[in-house]
Amino acid sequence: MDRLVIEGGRPLTGVATISGSKNTALPLMAAALLADGVVSLENIPALRDINTFSRVIAVTGTTVDYQLEKRIVTIDPSNLNRPEAPYELVKRMRASFYMLGALLGREGRARVSLPGGCAWGPRPVDLHLKGIEALGAEIALEQGYVVASAPGGRLPGGTFELNPSSVGATINFLLAASGARGSSCLKNAATEPDVEVFCQMLTAMGARLSGVGTRTIEIEGVDQLHATTFSNCPDRIELGTFMIAGAICGAPGSAIRFENADPTHLGECFIDVLRQTGTELTLGEHFVEVTAPEKLRPVSIETGIYPGFPTDLQAQWTVLLACTDGNAKVNETIYYDRFKHIPELRRMGINAIIVGSEVVVEGGKPIQGAQVMSTDLRASVSLVLAGLVAEGQTTVLRVYHLDRGYENLEGKLSALGAAIRREKYDEWADPA
Ligand code: UD1
Repeated sequence: MDRLVIEGGRPLTGVATISGSKNTALPLMAAALLADGVVSLENIPALRDINTFSRVIAVTGTTVDYQLEKRIVTIDPSNLNRPEAPYELVKRMRASFYMLGALLGREGRARVSLPGGCAWGPRPVDLHLKGIEALGAEIALEQGYVVASAPGGRLPGGTFELNPSSVGATINFLLAASGARGSSCLKNAATEPDVEVFCQMLTAMGARLSGVGTRTIEIEGVDQLHATTFSNCPDRIELGTFMIAGAICGAPGSAIRFENADPTHLGECFIDVLRQTGTELTLGEHFVEVTAPEKLRPVSIETGIYPGFPTDLQAQWTVLLACTDGNAKVNETIYYDRFKHIPELRRMGINAIIVGSEVVVEGGKPIQGAQVMSTDLRASVSLVLAGLVAEGQTTVLRVYHLDRGYENLEGKLSALGAAIRREKYDEWADPA
């Protein structure tokens, strides 16, 4: 396995480039299955999740080709003949469940493994299933698989209201509805940028959508969606993570620049609270500059759906709060127990306590390097951030979690001046 070894306390400076969005790339790849020919997707990051989803797609008989140098994936579903997503792959990545909507939309039938548990809290798929049922699908559960079919081979279409609003359920509904015969309507749809960009691709393929970017999306069925070339948007969570890194490790007075960035995708809340900490931000159309203050101010946050504070950035914010001199809270409203990183951060001397769905952080305590364990994607990157500001050496184990969603993290941080390297290790070796 791989681990990251970080020598803390080096100031970050310079320029980094943000990669294509993982959470947007996955639905774009699913949408390609609805096309009548070869779809080409640009700005697709080189990540483990992209590789996993490529394999999920390939099981169906679809050809998937990733050009690493160009970050382009081409998907040709002409030979799709097996509308299935097996457990062995779905268990590795929940977003594989997008295959349900994509296969129903294209083939009118699908056999997709139910995703299993998750590193944090319950993550149900009830809304995905209810939405697809509302479109007219017949659904059965057989040996851990969802078996769905459209009577007569094509879904009639229908109306559904999400409660709560869900990114994944919105995408699955739109995938299936785009291949339906009639009209459909989704109420309380997610408005996250990932959904909006995904809708832009469907529209480029000839789908007839209205209300994109609002809470009500209407879809008029069309007979065929066309092949297209589409460019993915930058990763907003990678950008937010790097902006927090800049705030806690930047040299005061000297800006760090992030290119190929879209700050509007972070939502107003994140930008506002980061400014309230004293961090200076310059937001361009395709770049962001971050200047750390002499002293960060503690600012409490509450996660929320877009444009609220992204849940995927709350673990990183906890580390920022530990770098201030006061007390503040992180209130998680989307996944009430997404706090697997807290015991690891406590091992580094951070005084953070979980109280219900909140974490209370007492800033100003010295952060010490330690050996810590990754548990999930965003939790792991919070450990890396803590390692960057810690005194001494931090070793982050099980880096494969990070490789799911951060492209070349250690390379990008090294280029900014961090002392961070990747090593192989034997997880089960006795201590020397
Ligand atoms: C996506 C992101 C994930 C992010 C999350 C919230 C991807 C691949 N993942 O996950 O990084 O943390 O959005 O921004 O894009 N819910 C139900 N029933 C369902 C589905 C969801 O109750 O059938 C609930 C969830 O438990 C949660 C809320 O809806 O409380 C939002 O989850 P959702 O937006 O669906 O998250 P994902 O799409 O899984």
